[in-house]
Amino acid sequence: MTAPGLTTNRAPFIEEVRGKGEIYIGQPYELYSEENQDTWRRLFARIKPKWQKYANPKFMEGVNNLAMDPNAVPKLDDINKFLCPLSGFSAKAVSGYVPAFLFFDCLRNRAFPTTITIRDGKNLDYLPEPDIFHDVAGHVPMHTDKLFADVLVRFGEVAHTAAEMVADIPDEHERVRRVESILKAMARFFWFTIEFGLMKRSGGGLCVYGSGLLSSCGEIEHCMESPEVQRFPFQLEWVINQYFEIHHYQPLLFVVDSFDHLFEEVDRLEAWMKDGKLNNVSPGEPHANEADLKSFLHAGASSVKA
Ligand SMILES: [Fe+2]
Repeated sequence: MTAPGLTTNRAPFIEEVRGKGEIYIGQPYELYSEENQDTWRRLFARIKPKWQKYANPKFMEGVNNLAMDPNAVPKLDDINKFLCPLSGFSAKAVSGYVPAFLFFDCLRNRAFPTTITIRDGKNLDYLPEPDIFHDVAGHVPMHTDKLFADVLVRFGEVAHTAAEMVADIPDEHERVRRVESILKAMARFFWFTIEFGLMKRSGGGLCVYGSGLLSSCGEIEHCMESPEVQRFPFQLEWVINQYFEIHHYQPLLFVVDSFDHLFEEVDRLEAWMKDGKLNNVSPGEPHANEADLKSFLHAGASSVKA
């Protein structure tokens, strides 16, 4: 039997820190097994040619600027030495799932909650949850770009506005219902942009900036080449009402013009929220769990008291 190392879903270290209720943790680098390192090497080698073909140019710049080692699981401290001076962002190690408001609040403070475990090497393709390859190879290169980093910060600000707005609602049942709807709209926006967004390429055609696509060797090609994928210009009214499923390739994707355009859409999301347009978005996925809802309600309650 191989050493468990820091393999997703079977890392004793993660179980231990979660057992203590710790969300923000260190990265005990010595725990990565040789199999973990080999998994990183194979994932990186497979995806690099796909990045060169399909990724947004800013993403490729980011990969180079971070001096990411194709042969070793990245040390977050090393990544941050290159990342912080470029955009003020840093990758912050977490023990796993982070409740929604805390996640967005980290973005507002230019920290990106980052998983440190890596998927099982026997199953490179299918992964329903983030691992360090998704988070560091898929997300973090985009954070080197100032415009993109500002989009994430703005998203965090929208979460704050949401928490403050719902805190003013006297009726508890209505307060919870409102948070559920707003959170659904925000999660859908995040999904169809930061995770699965496409962008117009200057000079024609499309490129990929969404991290779910940039970290999937199969889907990055499928999303650009398959005639079965629907690709439409980004429409806020559609995106916030569109359910999604996480267990298969995405059949529907939205295209933004630029990162300036994306920033403007986050502004619009906040304006729509203030106008009440996110209070009754269509039902369906994703469903917020209790910890997500509580994180927003608690944040709102404490900001009212402050
Ligand atoms: Fe992600």
